[in-house]
Amino acid sequence: MSLSKEWKLELQAIVGEHHVIDDPALYGPYTDDFTDHYVSKPLAVVRPANTEEVSRIVRWCALNHVALVPQGGNTSLTGAASTLRPDTEILLSLRRMKGLIHVDPINNTIAVHAGTPLAEIHDMASDCGRLFPLSFAAEGNATIGGCVACNAGGVAVLRYGTTRDLVLGLEVVLADGRIWDGMQSLRKDNTGYDLKDLFIGSEGTLGIITAVVLKLMPQPQEKETAIACVATPEDALKLLSLAQGQASSALTAFELISDQPISRVRKNLPDVPVPPLDDSPWKVLLELSYEIKSTESGLEKLLELAFEKEIISDAVIAQSQVQQKQLWHVRESIPLADRAEGGSIHSDVSLPISRIPEFLKETSQLIRSAYPWIGESIYGHLGDGNIHYNFVSSTDPQLTYQHEEGIREILYSQVNRFAGSISAEHGIGQLKLEHNYQFKSDLDIELMRRIKSVFDPEQILNPGKVLRFNQ
Ligand code: LAC
Ligand code: ZN
Repeated sequence: MSLSKEWKLELQAIVGEHHVIDDPALYGPYTDDFTDHYVSKPLAVVRPANTEEVSRIVRWCALNHVALVPQGGNTSLTGAASTLRPDTEILLSLRRMKGLIHVDPINNTIAVHAGTPLAEIHDMASDCGRLFPLSFAAEGNATIGGCVACNAGGVAVLRYGTTRDLVLGLEVVLADGRIWDGMQSLRKDNTGYDLKDLFIGSEGTLGIITAVVLKLMPQPQEKETAIACVATPEDALKLLSLAQGQASSALTAFELISDQPISRVRKNLPDVPVPPLDDSPWKVLLELSYEIKSTESGLEKLLELAFEKEIISDAVIAQSQVQQKQLWHVRESIPLADRAEGGSIHSDVSLPISRIPEFLKETSQLIRSAYPWIGESIYGHLGDGNIHYNFVSSTDPQLTYQHEEGIREILYSQVNRFAGSISAEHGIGQLKLEHNYQFKSDLDIELMRRIKSVFDPEQILNPGKVLRFNQ
């Protein structure tokens, strides 16, 4: 089905002639996704300029029984921002709705439109001497609305929390087009159910986030970054414990990376400088940050102690901000290096931190015996208990996709056995929908369904994401 002339004119009357796109040749930036799993087939891509236009589009959708899929930077790794049913849903791109609403360095808050890319919020915060700490590789494209809708995590959760911990207020367009004004800047508000918290992580299934109030933090005056080599995940946990004891809250990031994905960065992205390190099978990227400059290096002291205790075998400490960026660049290039290898499958599981070594050992054995040809790519935010247990296949990229269900079955059963979660930070989207039904209790699903029916009884908001469509 294509967009009728009449509907096109009605939508154009809301957003303007140039912001209703129904030519598939122009769809690419909105319809192709990073995981190569989902190619949206929308009825049209519609690009509102402001909340009022979003509200009018939603009213139009409700009237005409057309579903819509809200989309920010199109960086979802779960198909959350891709259409489900071909040629029937509108892709609502919020990318035009960007920019600062206001910043208040005394209250330590910033209000922005939902389509603002995360990296631009970093700059806005920095311009007034503050930090907005949410950070991950796709931050140049990912919009804050998408981050909130999916409760994004990233590399600084250990110190600053997830997106949920950083949001104070929201403006949301509801399924009937009404605008819910929850744009508060309060640290404390104890007046009943926290409606804002329902929208955070709801993946656009309960409402469309159009503006956000965020917490700002003091800007660190100094950072120290290193990559250390450890023999086992057990040693990585010993290092984590030592770092928490020595550096306390200065410990901002603690990333575990197995050697395979680092080798793939070397091989597939030769322009990314990888520092020389010994060939131990595991590496840890760790960062300390300080609001007040210190005279001595906390990181050097920590790593010296770790050497003495034989927890680490080698380490590289960045000597400049450029080198710090280079170390992070290695870590953040892993998804691209895996993708270049072929057949890359992502996951974002979380586990009780203390059980991760045992989980990794057992799961790897199960996976390797079922799929001896598979390449593993294990890395992630160990300090948060969040592992990206990913897979590639260099011999035949299609092989991982063909066996994806079986691979995920082993992985998620293990996660369940170890009392973990199948999604730490990427959300459910379409990718993990059925697995979520498998592992959540019937009561969980029933309550979620009842909440959905209150907010979106006609199922026009991102149907078939998080919860099954029409059930
Ligand atoms: C990362 C993204 C994939 O940590 O969550 O690289
Ligand atoms: Zn991550």
